[in-house]
Amino acid sequence: MEDGNGGRIKDGDAAVAVMDRARPQTVQKSREIQPYGAIVKLSIALNEKVCASSVTNLNQLLADTMTLRDLYKKHHWQVSGPTFYALHLLFDKHFKEQSDLVDLLAERIQTLGGVSIAMAHDVAETSIIPRAPRGREEVPSQLSRLLHAHEIILEEARTMARQASKDGDEGTNDILVSNVVRTNELQVWFTSQHLVNEPVVCGD
Ligand SMILES: [Fe+2]
Repeated sequence: MEDGNGGRIKDGDAAVAVMDRARPQTVQKSREIQPYGAIVKLSIALNEKVCASSVTNLNQLLADTMTLRDLYKKHHWQVSGPTFYALHLLFDKHFKEQSDLVDLLAERIQTLGGVSIAMAHDVAETSIIPRAPRGREEVPSQLSRLLHAHEIILEEARTMARQASKDGDEGTNDILVSNVVRTNELQVWFTSQHLVNEPVVCGD
């Protein structure tokens, strides 16, 4: 068999060479190609400073949205009591909607040339939503905790939307207003109505 350079190689060597090509290169470690916080300029007609400012804001919002998403799943699993079924389903619906927002925000960050926060340990260090206990809580505490997280997100999303609009980053402004603010406001309504102390059987 030819070795590709006009020489002869043994059949055994050739078999090893073929096997090497087929073998998955599983243990590889390269340098980061873009550090967290750095911006790679893309052709979206926005200057780097504007992109950097939006990316910083969006990463904060992303960390908080991931935290709220996970709070919904925690409560979906740990809810109890007479409203178990309704809340079990509602919490999972909100979890899915928050998951969609997470993807939207992360991909907006990448679109702006940034690096989106991703891993749980980085999210925990970044989020400003108060840490929840590992154990189970009563339903009123679960609901209050969710509403507090929503309010933090709504406040920062509205501030960030104004900033994005001022900077001419209307794509970011649109996501913040049309998706983040509206979804969170609607979820607040659905969640908060479970804290209205209505009689169940006999009216006043
Ligand atoms: Fe489930």
